[in-house]
Amino acid sequence: MPSLTTFLSVALLASVVSAVGNTCKTGNVVHKPVIDGTPVYFPATWREDKAAPALAKDQSCSWMVTIPQGYYAKLTISGKMGDKHSYFQTVDCTGNVVQTKLETKHPYYFPSPKFTLVVSNEAAATFAFKIEWAPYTTQISYIAGIGMQPHVLNITQDLFAADFSSDKVALFVSPADPNDYYSLRSSLVFEGQDYNGNFVANLYTLYETHQQWVSKGSMVYIVNLEASNKTDILLVQDIQYANFVDYVELNCYGVSTCSASVDGGDGKSAVLSLYASRSNETLVDIKMDPSATMKVYYGSETAFGFDSTYNGSTINSQLPLTFYGEDVTQYVISNGKATLTFNIPQ
Ligand SMILES: *[C@@H]1O[C@H](CO)[C@@H](O)[C@H](O)[C@H]1NC(C)=O
Ligand SMILES: *[C@@H]1O[C@H](CO)[C@@H](O)[C@H](O)[C@H]1NC(C)=O
Ligand SMILES: *[C@@H]1O[C@H](CO)[C@@H](O)[C@H](O)[C@H]1NC(C)=O
Ligand SMILES: *[C@@H]1O[C@H](CO)[C@@H](O)[C@H](O)[C@H]1NC(C)=O
Repeated sequence: MPSLTTFLSVALLASVVSAVGNTCKTGNVVHKPVIDGTPVYFPATWREDKAAPALAKDQSCSWMVTIPQGYYAKLTISGKMGDKHSYFQTVDCTGNVVQTKLETKHPYYFPSPKFTLVVSNEAAATFAFKIEWAPYTTQISYIAGIGMQPHVLNITQDLFAADFSSDKVALFVSPADPNDYYSLRSSLVFEGQDYNGNFVANLYTLYETHQQWVSKGSMVYIVNLEASNKTDILLVQDIQYANFVDYVELNCYGVSTCSASVDGGDGKSAVLSLYASRSNETLVDIKMDPSATMKVYYGSETAFGFDSTYNGSTINSQLPLTFYGEDVTQYVISNGKATLTFNIPQ
């Protein structure tokens, strides 16, 4: 059993370590160094291949980082908070806030004109960061008018930029791995035709809502700033053909039986299947209002994509029902709550 003296000396050692940790202050302003490609580090001697150094207890710090027009900034943080009240926080130019307690060097990407990094800790922690600025160099790969046909693309696999236009552009994000989707941070969405438009958010932030995002205007610019080699999928539709009260993705990663529930109230809802492996999927169970209908579409909700209609009062006697695993398969429920259970061969 450890003696009281051992305990005291360990406690003493811990307090000595935290006392020599770095300190910082609020109100720092950081501009891009004149020479392109010059990073800024905190602490100045830290490098990414080193462990994050100690941060003294009770720090409250902020950095406002400016980003010239035509550039973006990449922020890499390494650090760990030691208690439940402490946090790292970033705020982009639109006001999207991300708060964390553990940072393992998965980069954040910010558009012009600025972002803010805030650190607030009670207990001793570890903390370091690196900021890099770079001009946008990715050329527009294509300009796509989105109509009755949905557009499905691998969004983070390669460097990419495109303009999408329709009445209003509807985006649905589906990561390759729902437990690790940091790669989505490098895809930025703007309203307008390029990165000078109004910044909306990155796809990581849009995915976390688990909802479709719909533009205010008729054109959206999307740029992916880092090739991840991941098959994160982005579905782009015209809102006219994707206008649901509740819209959820069937999420079957790594399991062969999975369910999705929607509640459209008096309106329409839909279960979206973007199953990348292209297996057929079999509806094995459904709970829905007997007075409602389910319509199946291969593609957006258009006459072109329409496949079949089922009646809520009789569909259970027709199960199991097998549907093609197309790029986009959608199950549209006319009203009320519904839970659909599928079998999908892995
Ligand atoms: C995405 O990339 C994967 C792997 O290269 C490929 O199998 C899949 O068909 C691609 N999906 C789309 C929608 O392009
Ligand atoms: C990209 O991923 C595929 C499979 O997911 C792999 O075969 C390939 O080697 C990877 N390429 C790179 C450059 O990492
Ligand atoms: C899907 O079902 C169709 C029709 O039954 C069949 O022709 C096709 O081979 C199936 N595809 C897969 C991947 O099982
Ligand atoms: C569903 O089927 C029942 C019985 O055939 C019928 O009375 C009802 O009108 C149908 N409902 C719809 C929405 O088609």
